[in-house]
Amino acid sequence: MQEKYIDESKQGEAFAIAEKPQNNKKLFLESYGCQMNFSDSEIVASILSDIGYNTTLKQEEADLILLNTCSIREKAEQTVRMRLSQFKNLKKEKPHLTVGVLGCMAERLKTKFLEEEHLVDLVVGPDAYRDLPNLLKETDGGRDAINVILSKEETYADINPVRLGGNGVTAFVTITRGCDNMCTFCVVPFTRGRERSRDPHSIIEECKDLWNSGYKEITLLGQNVDSYLWFGGGPKKDFKNASELQKATAVNFAQLLDLVANAVPEMRIRFSTSNPHDMTTDVFEVMAKHDNICKYIHLPVQSGSDRILQLMNRQHTREEYLTLIKKAKKIVPDIAFSQDMIVGFCTETEEDHQQTLSLMREVEYDYGYMFAYSERPGTPAHKKMEDDIPADVKQRRLSEVIALQGELSRMRMKSYVGRNHEILIEGTSKKNENQWKGRNSQNAVCVFDKLEGQKVGDIVTVFAYDNTQGTLLGKTVE
Ligand code: SAH
Ligand code: F3S
Repeated sequence: MQEKYIDESKQGEAFAIAEKPQNNKKLFLESYGCQMNFSDSEIVASILSDIGYNTTLKQEEADLILLNTCSIREKAEQTVRMRLSQFKNLKKEKPHLTVGVLGCMAERLKTKFLEEEHLVDLVVGPDAYRDLPNLLKETDGGRDAINVILSKEETYADINPVRLGGNGVTAFVTITRGCDNMCTFCVVPFTRGRERSRDPHSIIEECKDLWNSGYKEITLLGQNVDSYLWFGGGPKKDFKNASELQKATAVNFAQLLDLVANAVPEMRIRFSTSNPHDMTTDVFEVMAKHDNICKYIHLPVQSGSDRILQLMNRQHTREEYLTLIKKAKKIVPDIAFSQDMIVGFCTETEEDHQQTLSLMREVEYDYGYMFAYSERPGTPAHKKMEDDIPADVKQRRLSEVIALQGELSRMRMKSYVGRNHEILIEGTSKKNENQWKGRNSQNAVCVFDKLEGQKVGDIVTVFAYDNTQGTLLGKTVE
């Protein structure tokens, strides 16, 4: 199965944007890892476009190459290291070329990058992108430059992201940064720092701007969106509109979702990622209330065993998780779920593994992202526990959860067959240029024949007549 949320084909993809004619330098920018990195790259492109850089898809013509990197598993880091080594020749040919590393690997490895990887001139952590213009002055002067200071406040709220390489229809809107949860296996709290929430006014403005520019779907992004909490002036209450928000003392995630759904009533809204520990039923109620909020939650659980959940510091039990799912299914009819699962965490027994499989059967996830545990230096698990499950056992367990998820996905897709779905057309199907691809509210991908008059960005009613494991096959209802 795929690496994190993102279409695997997009990993390491370079993005290009409309050019500013006055800009005369070229930036080649590649992103790896989660949606947040792709969203951050849009902020970086925006900052750099103000100091003379247009993006390019051709690395040979770049003055500046930036890789926005991921540290979540060892494999993700290896991919970036390999990519960096490919720039060696380019750098020999063009001595003035600057190569920089952004994001989680920059934060994790800090100066080690400059010492070990002589290819890299610039190292910038996820909270230091505003400093890029200064750092680039250093590298232009022939010196290495680094800023990996983490911030408790930075949300880049005022920076208008440049929308990179997308379809012009779906966009990410960051609402929180960082994570305070300290799951013992996870490097994110170390690479992305403390959790902070973005001012809701700026979120709503961004959503409205996106709607006015033709976007039809937004995904509110954060490592843990449910812990979104913003403090402002005035008494606490429920907010119906932006003027009420002006007077508010605090806005939580359910309230933010409600505000956004009202502010852009025809925009489809998704959000990711939810953490079961912080998820509350008022979020389900807001989802049920608004047609434009998609009926889909990515709700990672990581394991079905209470013992492992505790070792992972996930702060909830199997039973609490299942109760949450039941409540959601009751409040939001037709809701779909996806999971993240880690197999082979420290001390995991066959019994623990069976618990994971049985939890998956109980929930009947539409989709899943499954991983073998990869020990990350500096995390609590690395410091206090032994990575004691042999690689072949991890691999076998991983194959089992992937196979089960395959079955569940096929079954869930089948349950959508024989019904009409509202599908947002996102683009042409990769396999057949005469077909569109899009997703229904539950995030299931649907392909169907193009009809005259239909275009990207339209929401059309499609009858699903068949399915594969991950896709609905449909026909436009005329
Ligand atoms: N809340 C985050 C989770 C980030 S990590 C988000 O918004 O995406 C994404 C997923 O990677 C986790 O849910 C977990 O399943 C997996 N993961 C994290 N650390 C890992 C590790 N050390 N080994 C294997 N998988 C890991
Ligand atoms: Fe990582 Fe757990 Fe936060 S998985 S991103 S520490 S919620």
